[in-house]
Amino acid sequence: MTARLIDGRARAARLRSEIAQEVAALAAATGTVPGLAVILLGEDPASSVYVAAKIRATEAAGMHSVAHRLPAETSEAELLALIDRLNADPSVHGILVQLPLPPQISRSRVLEAVAPEKDVDGFHPVNAGRLASGGEGIVPCTPMGCLMLIEEELGDLRGKTALVIGCSPIVGRPMAQLLLRRDCTLLVAHRHTGDLPALLRQADIVIAAAGAPELVSGAWLKPGATVIDVGITRLPGPDGTTRLVGDVDFASAAEVAGAITPVPGGVGPMTIACLLANTLTACRRLEGLPAPAQRAA
Ligand code: GUN
Repeated sequence: MTARLIDGRARAARLRSEIAQEVAALAAATGTVPGLAVILLGEDPASSVYVAAKIRATEAAGMHSVAHRLPAETSEAELLALIDRLNADPSVHGILVQLPLPPQISRSRVLEAVAPEKDVDGFHPVNAGRLASGGEGIVPCTPMGCLMLIEEELGDLRGKTALVIGCSPIVGRPMAQLLLRRDCTLLVAHRHTGDLPALLRQADIVIAAAGAPELVSGAWLKPGATVIDVGITRLPGPDGTTRLVGDVDFASAAEVAGAITPVPGGVGPMTIACLLANTLTACRRLEGLPAPAQRAA
């Protein structure tokens, strides 16, 4: 392996500790404790694990945590009524509805029901619009974490060619907007892209967020590229074991890239740390307190 390993766990731990200090200082100075409400419908195992990790991190940062675990059969009207109550609750500064939602519920109606100023996922169209138009909204957590890792590695991104693979509203699209804000030359690939290797050969920065295990081969990378792997898929391993892999074939990519995130231990921990950062930012804005130093976007 010749690439530097980008340690997302260590970067996220640093960010969480900074946030915990800011939360303590805020509480001491004003009596305000940032509050995050998390809503989970049903018992999808992966969603349950993510939500438990978000709640643990919120509490560890000294924030107020509210968890609503509802049955999978919950109606859309009941969920919207809960969101209305949380929108009006002054002790709640952030609201997160864990995705995916059961089929009887409209994802867009639910995401649009969250007050944009409490939308710590950054999924409300108002926040997506502010990101696209250069305004000050709330930036989705995973792309924000990716940008922090990239900037820590490369510094100024102006003029660098960045390739985003995948165009989901949660990662790919906001990632592209953040890189444009940093004056990158932007390439975006998706399932209909014909010649992915031709795009990869040009890219100084690669963000792989297609949800396609080991899609990117090291042989296609520009030597020295910075590679951020957002994918995480569990594949069968030898003798009945399983292994977690990203969207990048790590072994071959680590021989060509300049720096690369591992899976796990790369982007994942940054997502939760950025959720805490967004909750603190939302709290400060809702309470009319001075904005903290901008971390990304
Ligand atoms: N499901 C998978 N990732 C996410 C996320 O970042 N936020 C929410 N709310 N649900 C998710």
